[in-house]
Amino acid sequence: MYISEKAPAKINLTLDVLHKRPDGYHELEMVMTTVDLADRIDLIHTSHSSITLESSSGLVPQDERNLAYRAAALLKEKLGVKDGVHIYIHKHIPVAAGLAGGSSDAAATLRGLNRLWNLGLSDDQLAEIGAEIGSDVPFCVHAGTAVARGRGEILTPLPPPPPCWVVLAKPGHGVSTADVFGRLQVDQIEKHPSTEAMIEAIQNRDYEEINKHLGNVLEPVTMEMHPEVRKIKEKMLQFGADGVLMSGSGPTVFGLVKKEARAKRLVNGLKGFCGQVFAVRMLGVRYQGVLDQIRTK
Ligand code: C5P
Repeated sequence: MYISEKAPAKINLTLDVLHKRPDGYHELEMVMTTVDLADRIDLIHTSHSSITLESSSGLVPQDERNLAYRAAALLKEKLGVKDGVHIYIHKHIPVAAGLAGGSSDAAATLRGLNRLWNLGLSDDQLAEIGAEIGSDVPFCVHAGTAVARGRGEILTPLPPPPPCWVVLAKPGHGVSTADVFGRLQVDQIEKHPSTEAMIEAIQNRDYEEINKHLGNVLEPVTMEMHPEVRKIKEKMLQFGADGVLMSGSGPTVFGLVKKEARAKRLVNGLKGFCGQVFAVRMLGVRYQGVLDQIRTK
């Protein structure tokens, strides 16, 4: 018996850091939303009690360092599950990119195992367990659109942003989130985004206002290390993006456009200039449908 779960990528429409906390983490305020670019997680029931993991991508660890593996191990331990699982990750989301690929794989593993192992946990309970794995995992458990506060685990749901296209461009290299936060000097942040203005823009389904209020205080930090981020932003604007921003700790830059033809123009303009380029739809809600069922082989 096996279950498949989609693990969608997220982008940050805003990312603000309020202060550094005594526990070493940063107090955040972020507006995040899911986009239609997803990994697929197959969870295959095994009769032995161990957890094994494989991925279509050689870029992610295939052992206990993988966040999906950790999610399975934590759930097994907390709930005293005797069964095992083989996790297969079909990787489509760029790795170390600021798109929460690893966190979303962990979240999808929690959702899927909740069904495969018949645990009966609510999404809130899964999100609470997910918070022990990583700060973005609770958002990824719920998916959709939300304001995330605290370390990232305190979530307030929002309606989806209006439909549009999201062009994602990732430079050839990845970025370590811990490294970016480590270099951030909170007292030297020049411009904080307005979380409130972004919330209002989303609630009003106002595409122009959403573009106007995009902001990420980690962007200058990552740009300093990787100047390509600035160049990609400039190119995206040149090719007609309505708004551009780096997502999370980067280095992926996204551009928003209304029309598919313009999204294609951006993709063509950026191809060859940076590592990976995709045009995907803004999703803003959880995936529904065909994958959300148990299958028997
Ligand atoms: O929670 P997660 O393990 O995904 O975070 C990775 C790193 O990012 C942390 O070790 C920390 O350095 C940094 N971080 C932070 N404040 C947050 C979230 C992450 O400083 N709210």
